[in-house]
Amino acid sequence: MALPCILLVDNNKTRSQQFEIILRFMEYQVETVDSSNYVSSACEFDQLFGIFVGDGINKQDAIISDIVDKAGKTPVVLLTDKGASFEVSSDFGKDIFQVLEWPVTYPVLKLITDKISVSYGQQDSGQQQAIQRSSVERRGYDRRFSALDRLKGNSQAIVNIRKAIDQVAESDATVLILGESGTGKEIIARALHDSSLRRTKLFVPINCGAIPGELLESELFGHEKGAFTGALSARQGRFEMAEGGTLFLDEIGDMPMAMQVKLLRVLQERSFERVGSNKTIHCNVRVIAATHRRLADEIKENRFREDLFYRLNVFPIEVPPLRDRVEDIPLLVKDITACMEVSNRGSVSFTNASLAVFMQYEWPGNIRELANLIERMAIIHPHKQVDVAHLPEKFQHYKVPDESSDASYSVSTKTVNTDSVDLSEKAGVTDTIENLSAGLTQLPKQGIDLKEYLTVMEGGLIRQALNECNGVVAHAAKRLNMRRTTLVEKLRKYDL
Ligand SMILES: Nc1ncnc2c1ncn2[C@@H]1O[C@H](COP(=O)(O)OP(=O)(O)O)[C@@H](O)[C@H]1O
Ligand SMILES: [Mg+2]
Repeated sequence: MALPCILLVDNNKTRSQQFEIILRFMEYQVETVDSSNYVSSACEFDQLFGIFVGDGINKQDAIISDIVDKAGKTPVVLLTDKGASFEVSSDFGKDIFQVLEWPVTYPVLKLITDKISVSYGQQDSGQQQAIQRSSVERRGYDRRFSALDRLKGNSQAIVNIRKAIDQVAESDATVLILGESGTGKEIIARALHDSSLRRTKLFVPINCGAIPGELLESELFGHEKGAFTGALSARQGRFEMAEGGTLFLDEIGDMPMAMQVKLLRVLQERSFERVGSNKTIHCNVRVIAATHRRLADEIKENRFREDLFYRLNVFPIEVPPLRDRVEDIPLLVKDITACMEVSNRGSVSFTNASLAVFMQYEWPGNIRELANLIERMAIIHPHKQVDVAHLPEKFQHYKVPDESSDASYSVSTKTVNTDSVDLSEKAGVTDTIENLSAGLTQLPKQGIDLKEYLTVMEGGLIRQALNECNGVVAHAAKRLNMRRTTLVEKLRKYDL
């Protein structure tokens, strides 16, 4: 699986080394050269994902102009130290994709790489396909699993969300996805796009919270050349990029009030102007918005416009936190480890005891936290089976189910271990783990440790009941149709 390649031309050794590390972390192949040897680089310039050129290069203009020439359709990004002046001759200013300040933060860089993917996807369909292919290949697993397939879970909540996606996908209704960070709002937005008639057009995400207020307008609506300092050339905004497709306004709750007014107008009139232009552009874009904030509170605090809220809230989808759907955890763990394997990001598996602990933990960072933990475990314990003792300290305070039967561990372990999981749809992996998450309907061929299974289920359901009742034991006991004293005993047993 070839990673997309970036050429970094920079005479500043420290900067280029640091930048290379970041780009490699983002899963790009990087070739770093300086201005004396970029010509001998083995890269085919027009086949690259992008070329980044550092400031402070001797005969700067001549070299940049040469690189821009050779680049063909490959975007050239100029890298400049914060505060340093970096004069670029206006002759090729229009060919520069973006000026990027160093040091750069991950969100800003991610924005630029996304923008390269998306806006170069707009230029011609051949390149669009190539870029879509390369970005899909980069996230290897996406090739096998569409967003809809990636929306794992058998909990009632996820079943309902899939149903909602089905109901609303084909209409152009605005959808508002609400839920804590890391619960899967973006996956749901992508699943919606993939299920809609717009799926052959672009899904364009923008994180309204990560872009400074003054840049957000130009990001959304584009700008004309010279509209503001740094606007070296005219540029499309995300609304234009998403034409015919879907625009995903992530973290809409963080959008400044001034922008909210402008967005409201686009939603009402389906038209806007680029910054620095008075030409009205009409758009055909489906909007999906998401936020982790409680918009009712934001409205009360005068941080969110009520009229915009009603415009967005045509079809709300609420995503519950992971702790309220712990029965999805085994399946998620399996999915995440499988994805990691497919995309060569490591391999690891977990004992059922670890899974039982996962089902009791609170997961404040939701699925993102779970995925990060799994990646971390894969680095620390590659190809191992992680037991509770190997987990970080915060997981050590939970009740581990009775390990009376080693035999059952070896059976269920085998099923959790992604080494042995065949990823093909028809592999018939109706294993213990899936059964755990689906609620067991049929006894698996290999049998099951019933006691352990029931312990895991019981712990998970008790935790859910407690969460639903804000920790009030008496109410939770009612939900579980058991006496309060019995529940208290169980809480002690599960160390809750
Ligand atoms: N239902 C799910 N099945 C599989 N992976 C999921 C699911 N929901 C979320 N994820 C993964 O969890 C992480 C966070 O999801 P994301 O959609 O970015 O959350 P949010 O936008 O709510 O912060 C991503 O890595 C995503 O792939
Ligand atoms: Mg998100």
